[in-house]
Amino acid sequence: MTTVTHPRHSILSSDLIHPSDQEIVLGDRATLEVRLGRADHARDLREIATALTETPRRLPSRFFYDDLGSQLFDEITRLPEYYPTRAEAALLNRVADRIAAETGVGELVEIGAGTATKTRRLLDAFAARGTLRRYIPLDVSEAELRRTALALTDEYPQLAVHAVVDDFSAGHLHGLGSSDALVLFLGSTLGNFEPTAATELLGRIAAAMSPGGYFLLGVDLVKPVDLLEAAYNDSAGVTAEFNRNILRVVNRVTHGDFEPSSFVHRAIWEPEEERIEMRLASPDSQVVRLDELALEIRLERGEEILTEISSKYRRPGVESMLEAVGLTLCDWFEELDTFALALARRAPE
Ligand code: SAH
Ligand code: AVI
Repeated sequence: MTTVTHPRHSILSSDLIHPSDQEIVLGDRATLEVRLGRADHARDLREIATALTETPRRLPSRFFYDDLGSQLFDEITRLPEYYPTRAEAALLNRVADRIAAETGVGELVEIGAGTATKTRRLLDAFAARGTLRRYIPLDVSEAELRRTALALTDEYPQLAVHAVVDDFSAGHLHGLGSSDALVLFLGSTLGNFEPTAATELLGRIAAAMSPGGYFLLGVDLVKPVDLLEAAYNDSAGVTAEFNRNILRVVNRVTHGDFEPSSFVHRAIWEPEEERIEMRLASPDSQVVRLDELALEIRLERGEEILTEISSKYRRPGVESMLEAVGLTLCDWFEELDTFALALARRAPE
């Protein structure tokens, strides 16, 4: 592992590709480990080519989260229509002390940490018990991780932060679960994966945990369609801008010529799958060129690209997903039929 001190850029925020396995010292008690490299860029290109040429066309949702996309998501979390963040924060306020008492761990690992705003409720609860030593946020957005790591070491004088830039949608999530760790996967980010991929992802998280380790999963619950559709069609148009940003990122990664501002944002509830689907519709028939892939995409007028699914859950479905990967539900906390936290444990050896 090499140690460098100069700032670098995420694979999603520039076309600079850095060698993987770099550990960067961000400041006192804050380090950043970059696990993305050239091979991941090649995989990004292959996945974009495959997804855009499938029927219907789609894009993997991790491509929302360059620096701008992360900031737009942060804005979404404060919108009046976007209830999940407030509901999960209220729930964490209510149960963080119980979770700290029940698990008593010294390390928190967070998958898809983002700004870790809600995580502070847990950090406070563990800090108050005097057990908190280390926080390991993992995210694909390097810019966001840098801000989060520095802010948290400022706010928590006893805490060491080791931030990991990685794509959790593939590969081994190594080194994330000591037996003294609670792994967090909040915000219902699991819902952004198709059911098979979601179980596969949970399986890789469980495999990275040590026997006896704990897991806290945040899930958005099925609720009336008007509330769901409003949350993804906000009146200020921030979600539409977030949606279009995926095309900016794809342009950057593939040297493409999508015109993001011309695409029409759609977010609709699919009752059979119990999920919101976000799509971008082409304003006209057009040809989009992706130079680095030597690919031309012919879009019809009104043709849609599926950019995100956001599955909503019911308790039995969550329990069986957890059981399928060897995690046993210890507690289920629910906020007014809106959002839930499932605390689970990998069996001790
Ligand atoms: N946990 C935060 C953020 C949720 S937004 C919350 O609850 O508010 C989803 C987060 O997951 C973003 O920070 C995004 O950058 C990250 N993310 C999305 N796909 C990812 C992937 N494949 N690998 C790593 N991080 C990813
Ligand atoms: C990160 N993820 C759980 C969000 C969601 O609600 O599916 C992303 C998002 N998309 C539109 N608004 C928010």
